[in-house]
Amino acid sequence: MFFEKIAAAPADPILGLTEEFKNDSRAEKINLGVGIFKNNEGQTPILKCVKKAEEIILATEKTKSYLPIVGAPEYGRLVRELVLGKDSEILAADRARTAQAPGGTGALRVGADFLKQQNVTAKIWISDPTWANHMQVFGKAGLEIGRYAYYDKATQGLDFEGMKNDLRTKAKAGDAVLLHACCHNPTGIDPDAAQWEELAKLVAELGLLPFFDFAYQGFGNGIDEDAAGIRAFLKYNPEVLIASSFSKNFGLYNERIGAITVVSATKDDADRVFSQLKIAVRANFSNPPVHGASIVTTVLSTPELRALWEEEVKEMRDRIKEMRSLLVDKLKERNAKVDFSFINNQYGMFSFSGLSKEQVARLKSEFGIYIVGSGRISVAGITTSNIDPLCDAIVKVL
Ligand code: LMR
Repeated sequence: MFFEKIAAAPADPILGLTEEFKNDSRAEKINLGVGIFKNNEGQTPILKCVKKAEEIILATEKTKSYLPIVGAPEYGRLVRELVLGKDSEILAADRARTAQAPGGTGALRVGADFLKQQNVTAKIWISDPTWANHMQVFGKAGLEIGRYAYYDKATQGLDFEGMKNDLRTKAKAGDAVLLHACCHNPTGIDPDAAQWEELAKLVAELGLLPFFDFAYQGFGNGIDEDAAGIRAFLKYNPEVLIASSFSKNFGLYNERIGAITVVSATKDDADRVFSQLKIAVRANFSNPPVHGASIVTTVLSTPELRALWEEEVKEMRDRIKEMRSLLVDKLKERNAKVDFSFINNQYGMFSFSGLSKEQVARLKSEFGIYIVGSGRISVAGITTSNIDPLCDAIVKVL
């Protein structure tokens, strides 16, 4: 027998929770686990710009033939402009290449495979805490993983000194460092502009290779604003990898659409890197699916749809911010034992609430409220209908 010895894998800490939630028969249950945007009615609607783009695609598409291994060139060009900025001198110097990938996770994996298989680096430094799947994606690609400090429990903010100190004293020149470009998952805590600048210089000085996970562009401060950290890095670091995801900012969760962009020091390096990215894609999934890429391409290249998209991203961002401050206010009204005002200083879909594993477990078992074990709340799932029972329950478990 071959499979007898196979051990059962543990449930995924985030997506496993969704399965548990679905099987919960309580009517009052609330899912604040997985990072999915919900409107105030608790739905995840298709963006209007996406529906309109799909109508155009349906009327004009002529073939279902394969895309190139790295995806459509127009898609790659638009992604690079979105991430690097239309006027970036990197674009003028033709130093960046983009490969389409299935979601941000696919992009991270293609990047990780490239790093490992081309002996670019053997080790990557990842923030502690981080998105649970980072460890698996980089670990399964065969990279060694180191952790750097990120979260300061005492201030519920960024442990900037600890972060710099770990990179300075533990990382070695030639290692890579994974950074969340904005809306850090799970903490929602981002470096400010001055801190990004300092980090960019430090990483260059230490000889580390920056690898950005950019899954929430537009959910922090704005579409361009959220690229500020990456753009600060590009001033001092000629080589950078960026994994983009369009799951959240286009609401294209199940289309699995993302991209890996690699910035190189010269055009010549960029061409050789790109040839190796092709191998990484071909060995993983051969070539990418077209639909999500066609949507993103159509929206970004059609002025009215682009404007509509920017409006819709702003609406999502504003709704989450509103829920964040409502959560803080409602907990305060209930005289919660803890001051939760730090939640207003966090960005993006998530809030690192500081709730303990035991408190998280009680929220689930006693109240049917599902949040990730680390205490991460998906603020994007809070609505004006579920916020009162949520706050009542939080106050009870504190
Ligand atoms: C999350 O962190 O909840 C999202 O990125 C969804 C996922 O795949 O984990």
